[in-house]
Amino acid sequence: MARDRPTGVGRPERAALVGLIAGRARRQEAERSLDELTGLAQAAGAEVVLRVLQERPKPDPSTFLGAGKIQTLAASAAETRVDVVIFDNELTPAQQRQIEEEVGCKIVDRTQLILDIFARRARTREGKLQVELAQLKYLLPRLVGSSAALSRLGGGIGTRGPGETKLETDRRRIRTRIHGISGDIAQVRKRRSQLRERRHKASVPTVALVGYTNAGKTTLFNRLTRADAEASNALFVTLDPLVRQLRLPDSRELLVSDTVGFIDRLPHALIAAFRATLEETGDADLVLHVIDASASDRDRRMNAVRQVLDEIGAVDVPLLEVYNKCDALTPGERRRLHDLDPSALCVSALTGEGIDELVETITSRLALDIRRVTLTFDPEDATDRERIARLYRHGRVVLHETRDGQASIVADIPRRLLNRV
Ligand code: GTP
Repeated sequence: MARDRPTGVGRPERAALVGLIAGRARRQEAERSLDELTGLAQAAGAEVVLRVLQERPKPDPSTFLGAGKIQTLAASAAETRVDVVIFDNELTPAQQRQIEEEVGCKIVDRTQLILDIFARRARTREGKLQVELAQLKYLLPRLVGSSAALSRLGGGIGTRGPGETKLETDRRRIRTRIHGISGDIAQVRKRRSQLRERRHKASVPTVALVGYTNAGKTTLFNRLTRADAEASNALFVTLDPLVRQLRLPDSRELLVSDTVGFIDRLPHALIAAFRATLEETGDADLVLHVIDASASDRDRRMNAVRQVLDEIGAVDVPLLEVYNKCDALTPGERRRLHDLDPSALCVSALTGEGIDELVETITSRLALDIRRVTLTFDPEDATDRERIARLYRHGRVVLHETRDGQASIVADIPRRLLNRV
C-alpha cells in the first residue's frame, strides 16, 4: 500500500513553502499562514528548508507566481535540494502541471497536503474511507489527459492514500471506486445513526468536543473519560469521532465524543467527506469548544472553529468554550484572559487543573432541573462579578441589561445553583 511509504531514501522530504502576499498590509497574514503551513508540512513528515513569499495582487493564471519568481524558485529549489514545493493555496490542475514542468520537482498544494495528513492519521474504517473519497475526488480532474499527474509517484506527500495501481487506472475506474466508497460510507453512516438513535432513546446526553487542531481535544477527552486514545503533538491525530462514557459526580452518565480537528481553510473536499462525522456535532446536547489558550493567534483559531460549526449547521447547539493549556499561561496572560471573558473556563488537560470545575459546569449545563431567575448585581463588586461569571458558566443567560450601574440578568439555571448566585 502506498500509505506511509518512506520517501525513497528513508529521510524526511525536503520541502519549500510558497505563499502569496496580496497587498502590503497582508504580509503579516501571509507570514503567519506560512508558519501554519510549516506545522502542516512537518505533520506530513517533511522538513522545511526554504520559504518563498511573493507580493502580487493576484496569482498568475498559468504559473501562480510570476515568471521571474518561478525561475528564482527553480534555482533555489535545486540549490537547497528540495524534493517537494508546497503552495499555501489551491492550485488548478493546469497550474500544478505547468509549475512542475518549470521548477522540475514535485508540486503539492495546500489541499493535497491536508488530504495527505488526514490519510496518515485516519484510524477507523470510516475515517479511512472518507479520506480516500476526498483524495479520489481531488485526483480525478488532475488525471484527465495528464501523464504528468501519473508520473508523480515518487512517494512522500501527495502520494499516500490511493495506491499506485489505482492511480494508473482510468477515469472510469476511479469513478467506480468513488461510487463504491460512497456506498460503504453510507452503510457505516447508517449503522452510526442507528447507534445514535439508540443512545437518544436511552436519553443519554452527549457532549461533543470540537476545536482547532492541536487544541488538546484528545488529551481532554482522555482526562475526562480516563481513557488513552492516542494524543500526540502531531496535528490532526483525531480523525474519527470516538465516543466514550463519562460518569458524573451525581452518578448520571453521559457520552463524550472526540471529533476531527478543525483548521481554517479546511478543504471543501474534506468538509464534504467528513460531513457525516461533523454533523454528529450538531446532534450533541452540548458542544465543548476546546481552545488552546496559549496560542498566539487564539482569536483567529476560535473564529475558524466557529465558521466550521456554522458550515455544518451546529449553531443551535449549546456551546461551552473551554480554555485549555492554562498551565502554559503566565499570571498576566491569565488575568488578561479573565478580563476579556469573565466567564472563561480555564483548564489544563495536562495537569488536571480546572477539570472538576469543568465537569461541574457540564453537569449543570445538562441538568434538567432548571429554574428561571431574575437577579441584580453590582458589576463593580468582585463577589458579584464572580456570581455573574458563574451564571454564564452554569446557566443560560436570557437577558443581560445594565442600567444605572446595576446589571440585571434573567437566566435559566440549575436549581442547586440558586444559593450560589
Ligand atoms: P488534533 O487531533 O490534531 O485535532 O489535536 P487535539 O486537539 O486532539 O490535541 P491533542 O490532545 O493531541 O494535544 C495536542 C498537544 O497539546 C499534545 O502535545 C498535548 O500533550 C498538548 N496538550 C494538550 N493539553 C495540554 C495542556 O493542558 N497543557 C499543555 N501544556 N499542553 C497540552
